[in-house]
Amino acid sequence: MDLQLTEEQQMMQQMVRNFAKAEIEPFIPQMEAGEFPHDILKKMGELGLMGMTVPEAYGGANMDFLSYILAIEELSKVSAVMGVILSVHTSVGINPIMQFGNEEQKNRYLPKMASGEYLGAFCLTESTSGSDAGSLRTRAAKEGDAYILNGSKMFITNGGEADVYIVFASTDSAKKTYGITAFIVDKDTPGLIIGKDEQKMGLHGSRTVELAFENMRVPVENRLGGEGEGFKIAMANLDVGRIGIAAQALGIAGASLEAATAYAKEREQFGKPISAQQGIGFKLADMATGVEAAKLLVYRAALLKEEGKPCGQQASMAKLFASKTAVDNSIEAIQVFGGYGYTEDYPVERYFRDAKVTEIYEGTSEIQRIVISKHLLR
Ligand code: CAA
Repeated sequence: MDLQLTEEQQMMQQMVRNFAKAEIEPFIPQMEAGEFPHDILKKMGELGLMGMTVPEAYGGANMDFLSYILAIEELSKVSAVMGVILSVHTSVGINPIMQFGNEEQKNRYLPKMASGEYLGAFCLTESTSGSDAGSLRTRAAKEGDAYILNGSKMFITNGGEADVYIVFASTDSAKKTYGITAFIVDKDTPGLIIGKDEQKMGLHGSRTVELAFENMRVPVENRLGGEGEGFKIAMANLDVGRIGIAAQALGIAGASLEAATAYAKEREQFGKPISAQQGIGFKLADMATGVEAAKLLVYRAALLKEEGKPCGQQASMAKLFASKTAVDNSIEAIQVFGGYGYTEDYPVERYFRDAKVTEIYEGTSEIQRIVISKHLLR
């Protein structure tokens, strides 16, 4: 495994780092107040960041998967909100169409998604089916040249802002997971109702909504893959999505380390910088070790995906470890900052609020352990 970044990867990483500092950091107060970052996404589209993994033939930047993961990491160092918007848009919005769409679907959706004109969302979770994703209750009944969808979805990232929704519904409930089918749903489809916005602990500025489908008519040509193939499509895309969320967590973990290190060098107590206290130095050492280990797991999963090799187990390991590192590092960063860390004057309390959800969405840490152990025990 070659972990030496290429010149192009390093240039892209620097470009995203500069962009995040210049364009995203100043907008954080507005995002904390709940404003969705429309203008930032527009600029990201102009820079080619909204379709990094999409082939040029469909209007994308045709970059390798590790470059995309590096971009999520860099964005998330400054704003985990931008990390999750990009990850959901790309990994579980664009990727299902790229991997399972037919030529007509690819031509219709990918160029607009790659340019950032269309934002993507992924609609699997329901109020009674979270970890047990296969028990979803949304129904799709075929009527002539369309399916009529009825049901609801919950915790939909990018919901209400997205133009393209990848929706999972059952076309044959007796077949359980084998009866689930995937659909591409346009935002203006009659019967698609945007419900309540969740008021979250963190990730302020990222929208998370409920959706309802009331006799929503989806043309047959918008079915993604065959009838009954939806669960496998969802799982395969979550394999990819989890690497993105792991990169988001890695970004938060790295930002926590950087903030704590800088503060420890500058804050003086007992006549010297607190970094000179071994108790603080050991904290920084543990945080740095966590970041390095998470990085190796995340980049390795990304390289496997790039090579077209199975990456589900490594994606789950990367997400499990990186999300724990993000939570641990953000808590330790608050501790290094002391009382100041508990205030909104410094970003470390935000890092913690944003980190926690990385252990929950796209599969909880417990689900990652189920996936990893299933691979081990096969
Ligand atoms: N790739 C392809 N196929 C897969 C697969 C994968 N990674 N994982 C499972 N499958 C297939 C299996 O092979 C099986 O088919 P066969 O019998 O033909 O082999 C079929 O799917 C059913 O598999 P399981 O029996 O393992 O299914 P299960 O019901 O036990 O569930 C689970 C497995 C791993 C627990 C799964 O339900 C799961 O991942 N749950 C968590 C859901 C989740 O991550 N939700 C996130 C919501 S999206 C989100 O958060 C996005 C956002 O907005 C931020």
